[in-house]
Amino acid sequence: MLLELSGVTIPTFDQKCVILNDVSFGIKEGSIHAIVGPNGSGKSTLAYTIMGLGDYKALNGKIYFDGIDITNLNITERARLGITLTWQEPARIDGLSVYKYVSLGMKDKSKIKEKVFEVLKIVNLEPERYYNRIIDKSLSGGERKRVELAAAIAMNPRLIILDEPDSGLDFIVLEDFMNIFDNIKKLNMTILLITHREDIGMVADYGTLLWRGNHIITDEFPRVMLRYCAKAGLKAFCKRTLFKNGAVCFDDDYIDRIFREENLS
Ligand SMILES: Nc1ncnc2c1ncn2[C@@H]1O[C@H](COP(=O)(O)OP(=O)(O)OP(=O)(O)O)[C@@H](O)[C@H]1O
Ligand SMILES: [Mg+2]
Repeated sequence: MLLELSGVTIPTFDQKCVILNDVSFGIKEGSIHAIVGPNGSGKSTLAYTIMGLGDYKALNGKIYFDGIDITNLNITERARLGITLTWQEPARIDGLSVYKYVSLGMKDKSKIKEKVFEVLKIVNLEPERYYNRIIDKSLSGGERKRVELAAAIAMNPRLIILDEPDSGLDFIVLEDFMNIFDNIKKLNMTILLITHREDIGMVADYGTLLWRGNHIITDEFPRVMLRYCAKAGLKAFCKRTLFKNGAVCFDDDYIDRIFREENLS
């Protein structure tokens, strides 16, 4: 496991309640791991906690990154180990050139131009057309998101956390997005993906379902999504969107069984 959470409990700032309750699961190196759950289930809090952002300190539990206990490390120390978070809020990067912004976080300063071009190709932006563009309103939403992702990749992290509150991936069309993720996977980077779009979630190898701060299941993504549908009572939606085109081969009996189990629990 590249990342492992063990019994992580995160209190609210006033310490009166918990946002995450005894959460344990692992993320395999080189995988795309999606976090799903309804609004307010604790997904962003989990992302911030892994990154070491703000005041989200574990009350109980441990976080391990590549076997190292990072529970008490700050954001800079975690970044140095190879954890990067992007898209949590619109970055304040207006006015920089794409070239400058993407190269900012590069540790190795040799052959920068080649590397910037390489990273732009990974996010499907034609290097010659984009490297000297200024980041401002003239970039489309999707272009901007790709530039942000390129900057994250340029840092050569081992784990990229993508939290998509509502905007991030919506700007990028699905085919492009799948292609970009394929490119990132070839670099053996691990992706933790928080998304509301179940179609995009389908690019994930594994998933974790959070429900009111509780960890429900970590498994192959379709099984996680099925459990989500069962908990949320979304059978029709589930059959219609998730398992269309035979992309996921669960037969109706299996789906019915999961729904029955959920109703019993
Ligand atoms: N500092 C805080 N104090 C009190 N409650 C908080 C605090 N931070 C987050 N919460 C609450 O914790 C819950 C989880 O929030 P979080 O942002 O992690 O949810 P989410 O799963 O990312 O939701 P969304 O899908 O809407 O992005 C919410 O009910 C939120 O209001
Ligand atoms: Mg969120």
